[in-house]
Amino acid sequence: MKLLKTLCLAAAGLVLLAGAAKAEPKDAKGVSYSFEGPFGTFDKGQLQRGYKVYKEVCAACHAMKFVAFRNLADPGGPGFTEKQVKALAATFKVLDGPDGNGDMFERPGVPADRFPAPFPNEPAARVANGGAYPPDLSLITKARAGWTGTFNQLFNGIGGPQYVYSVLTGYEDPPEELKKEQPEGRYYNPYFTSNQWIGMPPPLSDGQVTFDDGAPNTVADMAKDVSAFLVWTAEPKMEERKRLGFEVLVYLAVLSLLLYLVKKKIWARVEH
Ligand code: HEC
Repeated sequence: MKLLKTLCLAAAGLVLLAGAAKAEPKDAKGVSYSFEGPFGTFDKGQLQRGYKVYKEVCAACHAMKFVAFRNLADPGGPGFTEKQVKALAATFKVLDGPDGNGDMFERPGVPADRFPAPFPNEPAARVANGGAYPPDLSLITKARAGWTGTFNQLFNGIGGPQYVYSVLTGYEDPPEELKKEQPEGRYYNPYFTSNQWIGMPPPLSDGQVTFDDGAPNTVADMAKDVSAFLVWTAEPKMEERKRLGFEVLVYLAVLSLLLYLVKKKIWARVEH
């Protein structure tokens, strides 16, 4: 009995300690997107704007190695034409080679290239960012969740884009009692999953990116557009998956009806 009590106390102590060591991140802000729900689809205009935010802001630090320029013209995506994709790929510099002399060289991107990484390797990226590593953004909306709890995630979604949105819009002045602890080159952001001190300087400011369609460009608007774009990069075939899923359900419903009618017909001849 005594042993059990000691064990329980020790366990409670551990839980308390663990809680004190790491402040839990805040739940993400509950923004809603056009692609949510079983029939939700991407808003092409929003994806194009999100691409522009990535290109003009995030690409300076974050790679997106699983996405090729040509994907931007795929069905179910941002809907750029092939000509547009050619032009926008050429605005990136891609490392190629080796040439005849064994040297690597830079050339303008072509649609078959993937988005180039802004830094040659992880140590170089860390040195440029005060020790923090800007993660690849291709799959970030799948790799992070804005909230936890089974029911929460069942009804509100996993919260990947909401997490990205909340990090981008969640910079605040640190609370008084934490001000002394602020490490050099870190910013207070209670939504960041690792701890509240993020190594990314606030990347967006109002009006930073001008959209071709004249859409509003406050920090919140740009954060929403780029987080939607990053859902598409993480699941470029989402619309196709939903469509197929619906077709399969219709097929199964019709099949069930037919089987039921066949069963009625066969058993109708059985005498009681
Ligand atoms: C000046 C460089 C820089 C720019 C520009 C930048 N980031 Fe970051 N970002 C970083 C660094 C460095 C980290 C890692 C922070 C850390 O680990 O403390 C980071 C972290 C993140 C995270 C959190 C990842 C995680 O592990 O949970 C997200 C999401 C993110 N960035 C998205 C973006 C988006 C979207 C943009 C464009 C709007 C952007 N970043 C622009 C440097 C940058």
